[in-house]
Amino acid sequence: MGQALSTTELNTVFNESNMLKQELLDGLISDNKYINPKFFYDEYGSQLFEKIMQLPEYYPTRTEISLLENNKHAIAKSIGEDTVLIEPGAGNCQKVQSILPALKPSCYIPIDISAEFLFECANKLKEKFPYIDIHAIADDMKEKVSIPEQFKDNDRVIFYPGSTIGNYNPTEALEFLKHANEMAGKEGGLLIGVDLQKDKDILDAAYNDEQGITALFNLNVINHVNKLLDSEIDVDLFKHVAFYNEEHCRIEMHLESKSDHDYMIENNEKISFSESERIHTEYSYKYTIESFSGLAKQAGLKLKDFWLDDNELFSVQYYVAA
Ligand code: AVI
Repeated sequence: MGQALSTTELNTVFNESNMLKQELLDGLISDNKYINPKFFYDEYGSQLFEKIMQLPEYYPTRTEISLLENNKHAIAKSIGEDTVLIEPGAGNCQKVQSILPALKPSCYIPIDISAEFLFECANKLKEKFPYIDIHAIADDMKEKVSIPEQFKDNDRVIFYPGSTIGNYNPTEALEFLKHANEMAGKEGGLLIGVDLQKDKDILDAAYNDEQGITALFNLNVINHVNKLLDSEIDVDLFKHVAFYNEEHCRIEMHLESKSDHDYMIENNEKISFSESERIHTEYSYKYTIESFSGLAKQAGLKLKDFWLDDNELFSVQYYVAA
């Protein structure tokens, strides 16, 4: 049986949920409406994202996995031996499995907020790779990662696959890169998956799949908002909009209102939508090797090696302290 929460812990949970509500409200009453993409990932949203990763049009996941798989020995050579490999937002720890057999780090530290799922995946990984010390940490990465005492002096490598960096705007991406550089330290590195700029048709198709799974994923954020705000915003009154903005080199996802409608919610707040008004839900920035390494340079990182697939759709890049 789970332990009861203390009053302090209950207060923390209560304050966090109020902060999330306020964050949503601020976005929905603003002139340029927005919902942070982190709200995509309720249980159903996470299931839909799993499906997105299998879609024929969504090339990033399978391209990155084969890049890691095909270049594992070169990646291991570039990184070196006996490292502590740290993966923020590790999720199901799937991608790391392509490089673990060649890299053989001394210790692997997957970090994620969903504790139960993380520990389950880490335990499976321990069976598969008994020669690697695996220390899962359930955390949101806001604090410093604690490295087990016996590995304190090993070089640290941050592993950040999935092109998650693309969902940060350039200022947030720079912050992340600085944080990663700090975590890795002078002798460490950052192995990161970065999606590349390419033909607009390929990008538009990847976020407008024929089966409509990405549309469901985008629209589901309204259901999640309704749960969190205890509201009844009608999801059927919105449509999915996604396109590649060539000027800003990013996919933009929005929810477009089909008509005028408004809702009264808690504390007598009113949320109004007018016909054709859009709620911005996600950016997915696409880079070139030059544009990304330029950003990383501002964070004090130097590109050591990179790997591309034959069609140059995706990249895996390895950085060290400049
Ligand atoms: C999680 N992230 C890297 C995905 C992306 O491609 O930006 C999220 C996504 N949104 C729609 N399809 C996939």
